[in-house]
Amino acid sequence: MSDGVRSSARPGAGHLDHPLDQMGALRRTHACGAIGADLVGSEVVVAGWVQSRRDHGGVIFVDLRDREGLVQVVFRPEVAADAHARAGDLRSEFVLLARGNVERRTPETVNPKLPTGEVEVAVRELRILNVATPPPFPIEEDPGADEIVRLRHRIHDLRRAPLQRALRVRHALYQSARATLSKLDFLEIETPILARATPEGARDFLVPSRLQPGEFYALPQSPQIMKQLLMIAGFERYFQIARCFRDEDLRADRQLEFTQIDLEMSFVGVEEVLAVLEEVTVRAWRDAGGIELERPFPRLSYADAMARYGSDKPDTRVLLELVELTDLFRSTGFRAFGAAVQKGGVVKCLPIHDADALTRGEIDRLESFVKKELGAKGLAWVRVSADGSWQSPIAKFLSDAERAGITERTQARSGSLLFFAADEFAKAHAILGRLRTDLGRQLGRVDSRAWAPLFVLNFPVFERDEHGKLTFMHMPFVAPVEEDIALFDSDPERMRGTHYDVVMNGLELGSGSLRNHRSDVQRKIFELLGYSKGEMEERFGFVLNALDTGAPPHGGFAFGLDRIAMLLAGAESLRDVIAFPKTQRGQDLLMDAPSAVEPGQLEELRLRITPAPPAPGERAR
Ligand code: AMO
Ligand code: AMP
Repeated sequence: MSDGVRSSARPGAGHLDHPLDQMGALRRTHACGAIGADLVGSEVVVAGWVQSRRDHGGVIFVDLRDREGLVQVVFRPEVAADAHARAGDLRSEFVLLARGNVERRTPETVNPKLPTGEVEVAVRELRILNVATPPPFPIEEDPGADEIVRLRHRIHDLRRAPLQRALRVRHALYQSARATLSKLDFLEIETPILARATPEGARDFLVPSRLQPGEFYALPQSPQIMKQLLMIAGFERYFQIARCFRDEDLRADRQLEFTQIDLEMSFVGVEEVLAVLEEVTVRAWRDAGGIELERPFPRLSYADAMARYGSDKPDTRVLLELVELTDLFRSTGFRAFGAAVQKGGVVKCLPIHDADALTRGEIDRLESFVKKELGAKGLAWVRVSADGSWQSPIAKFLSDAERAGITERTQARSGSLLFFAADEFAKAHAILGRLRTDLGRQLGRVDSRAWAPLFVLNFPVFERDEHGKLTFMHMPFVAPVEEDIALFDSDPERMRGTHYDVVMNGLELGSGSLRNHRSDVQRKIFELLGYSKGEMEERFGFVLNALDTGAPPHGGFAFGLDRIAMLLAGAESLRDVIAFPKTQRGQDLLMDAPSAVEPGQLEELRLRITPAPPAPGERAR
């Protein structure tokens, strides 16, 4: 079978010469995937794409595919000579309409792997609706093609069952969110895409204005400010399936443009918002995944999540937990630990009992991994031997009291392996949090739950950036928890915020908080963040003024819809649940975007492109 490029402009256009190669009055009666034994004896009309064609000594078999599945259609000369003659020309991805009778397959030809595998359609009439270029890879569950190739040929890729399934999951999620939130009296309201910068902490995408030359719209990083304005405007309950744009470095769970299930409510506290979030999540899992989640969702404070799991989005199915040791090393002789504590850092430990499976080679590999990937200074460890003695590169630096303290805190016994990180709070937790999940999964230290939803509550309002400057942890509109407002002047860093996350299996599904509805509190936060009065007015004046028009207490949340789809579709990357995603380098390989534009367009926008700065080491041209 030759699928090579043919000489005519359209591939195999000669196959379309037949006068009947239009749909005429013939219309599909059944989806391919819906042809079952109950239809034996009936006449059906099916339509779809040629998945494969096999010629068996005069009888031609074609697997025909539509979005519901595959069915075998068979061409026999004695049933329809004309259709049979033309079926010899069929190639992969040709588009057909076929009328015929559903027949039971002979027992030896039944295909138990196919839902339609007991039957076939004996074709009486064939219309070739279109010819097709040969597909660049097989349209199969696993096409064995590089992702770059799949993205360049996204149309063929989207014809594959996993992507068809993933986009159905998305559809189910949209419908589920709309139904759940409408039922709870939320109004769906659209907010602008051509907007002003919103402070979600990422870089903005800018759109130059032609009518206001030299000025720019910013694409929304989220509808945050706009939904708050809607609360102030009295809508009380809003939601939107919102497209968001963030010019950030892409990872498997991040895209430049993505979709949120965004919501906001007035006259509520944290509890009322969490009740809505639990309802939306439970229904999403039910409607899009057929899964019943256990309620109520467990809750964990940010402080406990970090202390026990080393992460603000822990996979709580992993049973290993971290242990706090900082206070044991306040005046230690071991420099590596002492220095970290003196600088205000922490010493934490990840104990793993019955850990003989982890070899010395494995430990060395882990040490180089955390040094290289997570910026660790080292990875101290202790293995407790059968006779109770310590095998460890740091044992000789520790006092008896320190050893006794470690043993007591970690419950170490023979067979235990202890990993230590002494570093800044964030880094020490990132290192051991990562080892916790990796080793917990590797060693099977996990409970039996398939799904582990979790609320993480009370994130700090502020944190320090790498230069020691106070910055917001999530965004500047998060309201502090009421009891902590007194810390504003004395110790803002310790102030807990109302911010909450929904976490599932170690992935952050979404975030939200109560907002500052009083402008005096909001101004105070901007002040602590280092905004001058002028900057505050310039950037956020319209928000502050809006608060002063009579803002009700309000709060809300945004789920990352793509991330939920990824979990429910069992996909590894957001790219597998988005119809036309961007690559790691922010490109759409199908449409070839971004791309250069006509000089005239730039002129109209009064923009000039300056030459790219030379790469380091390259001489300027
Ligand atoms: P946040 O910035 O935490 O909060 O975003 C909410 C959720 O959106 C998803 N998400 C992303 N998904 C894919 N690619 C990205 N680049 C990306 N960035 C974020 C995540 C995340 O949990 N306005 C606030 C919400 C609020 O407070 O109401 C906000 O946008 O799942
Ligand atoms: P050193 O004294 O730097 O040779 O380190 C002794 C041991 O402590 C080595 O096993 C290092 O991997 C480990 N180590 C050094 N610094 C740290 C740190 N900050 N946290 C955890 N382990 C460390």
